Amino acid sequence: MTVQDIKPTTGSQPVPILPDNAPFPPDQRAWLNGFFAGLLSVEALPGVMPLTGTLPATAGLALAADDDDAPWHDPAMAIGERMTLAEGKPMKRRLFAAMAQQDCGQCGYLCQTYAEALESGVETKQNLCAPGGKETSRMLKKLLEQSPSSAVEATAVLATVAAPKEPGKPGYARDLPVEATFVSATRITGEASEKDARHVVFDISQSGIDYVPGDSFGLMPTNDPALADAVLAAMRAPADFPIQGGKTFRDALIQDYALGAAPDMLFELVSYMVGGDRRVKAKALAKGLDPEGDAATYDVLAVLEKFGPIHPDPEAFLECLEPLQPRLYSISSSPLATPGQLHLTVDAVRYRIGSRKRSGVASTFLAERLEPAAPVKVYIQKAHGFALPADPMTPIIMVGPGTGIAPFRSFLWHREAVRAQGTPVGKSWLFFGHQREATDFFYRDELEQLATTGALTTLTTAWSRDGEAKIYVQDRMREHGPQVWQWLKAGAHVYVCGDAKRMAKDVETALIEIAADHGSMSPAGAKDFIAELKAAARYQADVY
Ligand SMILES: Cc1cc2nc3c(=O)[nH]c(=O)nc-3n(C[C@H](O)[C@H](O)[C@H](O)COP(=O)(O)OP(=O)(O)OC[C@H]3O[C@@H](n4cnc5c(N)ncnc54)[C@H](O)[C@@H]3O)c2cc1C
Ligand SMILES: NC(=O)c1ccc[n+]([C@@H]2O[C@H](COP(=O)([O-])OP(=O)(O)OC[C@H]3O[C@@H](n4cnc5c(N)ncnc54)[C@H](OP(=O)(O)O)[C@@H]3O)[C@@H](O)[C@H]2O)c1
Repeated sequence: MTVQDIKPTTGSQPVPILPDNAPFPPDQRAWLNGFFAGLLSVEALPGVMPLTGTLPATAGLALAADDDDAPWHDPAMAIGERMTLAEGKPMKRRLFAAMAQQDCGQCGYLCQTYAEALESGVETKQNLCAPGGKETSRMLKKLLEQSPSSAVEATAVLATVAAPKEPGKPGYARDLPVEATFVSATRITGEASEKDARHVVFDISQSGIDYVPGDSFGLMPTNDPALADAVLAAMRAPADFPIQGGKTFRDALIQDYALGAAPDMLFELVSYMVGGDRRVKAKALAKGLDPEGDAATYDVLAVLEKFGPIHPDPEAFLECLEPLQPRLYSISSSPLATPGQLHLTVDAVRYRIGSRKRSGVASTFLAERLEPAAPVKVYIQKAHGFALPADPMTPIIMVGPGTGIAPFRSFLWHREAVRAQGTPVGKSWLFFGHQREATDFFYRDELEQLATTGALTTLTTAWSRDGEAKIYVQDRMREHGPQVWQWLKAGAHVYVCGDAKRMAKDVETALIEIAADHGSMSPAGAKDFIAELKAAARYQADVY
C-alpha cells in the first residue's frame, strides 16, 4: 500500500492523501489524512478532520502528549511498577515502560526509540531487548496485541511515510557487521579468583571500522558445539538433517539460534507433544507462569530433558527458537594508544544449575572457543552520551567496579596518548572495586604506570571480599566525600560503568549524599544537583 502525494508540501501543493482503496473506514481515513496534514504542517483539505478533532474510536494512534519525564526510566525498577507508572499513557510510552530501561543499545536503539519503532511498525521484532528478556518480550507482545488491528495497519502506513528505516553504514549497525580478526583472550584474574576475566584483543586494521573512547563493540558469537550436540542427542535428531537454506541442523543450532532461555513458543510446541501433568505444566510455562518455581532453569536443552523424550521435526523445532543475538562489550582500548587494535575486558559467564554447567554464549566464545586469527562478525555501537569531555583539561571521576573498568582503561590510555603528544591533560580519579586485591586487581601494572605519567591522578580501590564487611566503590566515595565534592565544584565530569541493577543506583545515591553533606544542600536540592549534572552531560553512565 502506498500513500499518494507523499512529498512534504506547503502552500497550494498537494497534501498527502491515503489512496481510496486503503483499508480504513471513512472516519479513520479522514482522520489519518488530517494526521498527515498536521504532520507535514499543511492546511487541511476540505473534508479532512483537524488534528484536534475527536479521534475515531478505532484509530488507537498515540497522539496524546507524551512529554512526561518517563518516571519508569529506571533500570532498577521492576516491570510491574514500570507498567503501573505508564498506565493510561499512549501506546508508545507503555511500550517504552516495558523495556529494561538500560539504554544499552543491544537492540540497536535506545529504550524509547525501540518503543517508537515498534509502535510505528518500522520495527517488527519484539524480542530485541536483551536485558528485559522474556518479561519484556511478553509485555511487548501483549501491548501490541491490544492495538486494534486497524491501528496497526495505520501505523504501518505512517511508518512508510514518516520514518523509513535508514540503511546503516557497514560496521556500525548490528544488521551490517564487518569482519575483524580475533587475536587473543588473556586471563587477567588470578588462578584462585572466583572470576575468569579476560583481556581480549581484536585486530581491526582491515575491517574499515574505527571508534572513540566510550563506544562499544558488538560481536556475533556462535554456540558451543557441545551444547548443540547435546540438543541433537536429546531430540535423537541427525546432525546432518538438511534445513531450508542449505545448512545442516547442527550448523543452524550452532550459528543461528539462541539455546539459552527457552522461548514460550518452545513450551507451546512441547505442550502439543506430551500429555497429562507434563502438558499442563508446559502450557503454564508457555503463558509465563511458574507453577513449580523452576521456570528460570529452562534453557532449550533443559526443556528437552525435562519433557522428553520428544522428537519434533527439526524445522518446526527451529521455528520455536529465537535467533542468536549479537552481544555488546565496552571498548577498553584507545585508538590513539593502540591503532589498528581494539581491546575488551570480558567476564566469562559460567554457572551451574542442578548437575549441568552452563556458559554464557559470547563471553565463553571469546574466552574458550575462538582460535587466534579467526574472523568474527563485529560492529561498533557508537556511544550515546558516554564520552571523554571535549576539553582534555576537564577533570574526570570514573567509577568502574569489575568489568566496569573497561571504558576507563580506554579513557586513561587516550589521555596518556594525548599527553604524550604534548597536550596537557586534566586530573583523573578512578574508583575500581572487585572481590579480592590479590586476584581481581585488573590492569594493576598499567594503572601504576599511568599514575607515574600523570594520566591517572588518583586510584582508589574497594575490595569486597578481603575483609569482614563488604567494601564497595561507593563506600570509598563517601570516605573521600570532601575531595569528591571539591572535584565536582572544579567542574569534574563523573562516569559510572558496570552493573545496572544495583551498583549504578547505589553510586548515584552516594553522590547525592556527598552533595548534601559537603555542598550544604537539602536532600531534594542534592538530588536536583545530580539531575543537573546529568542534564549537563557531566554525569554519564554506561551500565548493563
Ligand atoms: C553496553 C554494554 C556493554 C557491556 N560491556 C561489557 C564488558 O565490558 N564486559 C563484560 O564482561 N560484559 C559486558 N557487557 C555484558 C555482555 O554484553 C554480555 O551480556 C555478557 O558477556 C554475557 O553474555 P554471554 O553471551 O556470555 O551470556 P548469555 O549467554 O547471554 O548468558 C547470560 C545469562 O545467563 C544467565 N546467568 C548468568 N549468570 C547466571 C547465574 N549465576 N545463575 C543463573 N543464571 C545466570 C542470565 O540469564 C544471564 O542473562 C556489556 C553489555 C552492554 C549492553
Ligand atoms: N548479562 C550478563 O549475563 C552479564 C555478564 C557479565 C556481567 N554482567 C553485569 O556486569 C556486571 C559486572 O560484572 P563483573 O563480573 O565485572 O563484576 P561484578 O559482579 O559487578 O563485581 C564487581 C565488584 O562489584 C561489587 N558489587 C556488588 N554489588 C555492588 C553494589 N551494589 N555496588 C557496588 N559494588 C558492588 C562486587 O562485590 P561482591 O560480588 O563481593 O558483592 C565486586 O566486588 C555484573 O554485575 C553484571 O550485572 C552481566
